[in-house]
Amino acid sequence: MPSSRIPGFYKLSIDRRIEIVKEFAGLSDEEAEVLKHGKFPLEVADHMIENVVGLWPLPLGIATNFLINGRDYLVPMAIEEPSVVAAASNAAKMVRESGGFQAEVAESVMISQIQVVRVPDIEEAKRSILAEKGKLIELANEMDSLLIKLGGGARDLEVRTVETDAGPMLVIHLYVDTLDAMGANTVNTMAEGLAPTVERITGGRVYLRILSNLADRRLARVKAKFAKSSIGGEEVVDGIMWAYRFAKYDPYRAATHNKGIMNGIIAVARATGQDTRALEAGAHSYAARDGRYTSLSEYWVDGDGDLWGSLELPLAVGTVGGVVRVHPIAKLALKILGIKKASELAKVIVSVGLAQNFAALKALATEGIQAGHMKLHARNIALAAGAKPEEVDKVTERMIREKKINLEKAKEILGEIRGG
Ligand code: MEV
Repeated sequence: MPSSRIPGFYKLSIDRRIEIVKEFAGLSDEEAEVLKHGKFPLEVADHMIENVVGLWPLPLGIATNFLINGRDYLVPMAIEEPSVVAAASNAAKMVRESGGFQAEVAESVMISQIQVVRVPDIEEAKRSILAEKGKLIELANEMDSLLIKLGGGARDLEVRTVETDAGPMLVIHLYVDTLDAMGANTVNTMAEGLAPTVERITGGRVYLRILSNLADRRLARVKAKFAKSSIGGEEVVDGIMWAYRFAKYDPYRAATHNKGIMNGIIAVARATGQDTRALEAGAHSYAARDGRYTSLSEYWVDGDGDLWGSLELPLAVGTVGGVVRVHPIAKLALKILGIKKASELAKVIVSVGLAQNFAALKALATEGIQAGHMKLHARNIALAAGAKPEEVDKVTERMIREKKINLEKAKEILGEIRGG
């Protein structure tokens, strides 16, 4: 496997970057063309949603340097916000110096909820459902023979009582291993299919039959070491620890802290064709699981004074079915990652989330977030003014030094450079 450590990737021309990605991922000429021109047929779009009149393109960038569980990845990220791809790559560079990200996914189990109201005897209904558990699971599994053939399927069932202002209701959770699919369609079908039997057993009335986006049986975890020596020393470690405490204890800060995590997560999720709203819902509900909204990540300092970070959240992602099946760029993104299994995709995504979070905290606790933004902004202005790749750095540096970042200034500097 080639290395994802590609110094100066950002300075290369788009064509050269595409060539590198093509070689890294073994893309065909045709696939490289799809990438370059963002080819997405309108007819495909027309089959995806209603009333289609066009497309809404986003930049697709590649984060470099990611070493996860000993494997190198070039990570595609679709996002409109500057600095995100650069920050992720930069954090990943520091992590790889300490051995890379250690990521894991426990299981790929989705939760399907069946809401039962007006149950005459809640305790009796609970007992009856549990007594029929085996049959209900069997019945659910009859609804997706392919999933069973592949080794997935409904695994377990639980019954919860949820108190409401109109009295208690029963909520049945069906746990379904959806393997490499996100699984929404499968588990929704199962819940709908079980509803008549559940009504018969409980004597109640079933209303909602739908998955839960708080997919806490589909948790992805990662931890990584950020060596004191590669991140700028003790003071930076101390600043990041205080930034972490801020998010841990203050929900106002936690919201922004977690937003930074989602910058990375959603960018990769979007590139690979995931349901990003489901991931947002899962992440934020998980962040409030103890009744108080808090940081999704944790940081600590080891005996050598090095910083460690970890991140855990539900990641219901899929590498088969849904958008992934029809979206040419999502397919390519998975090919660039070299990923076939949803669990591996979740490991990459959670690692990018931690990298993004670390990068934001480091910037915030030191020079502030604007310096990096301004640098990228200046680069973009330099490019817009017509700077060639070998001229961009000079123009950018001068605009920053002279604190004038605009098109006119960029053109003026370019004129001077070219004039002699
Ligand atoms: C901006 O998109 C993300 C940050 O606000 C995250 C953070 O504050 O941790 C920089």
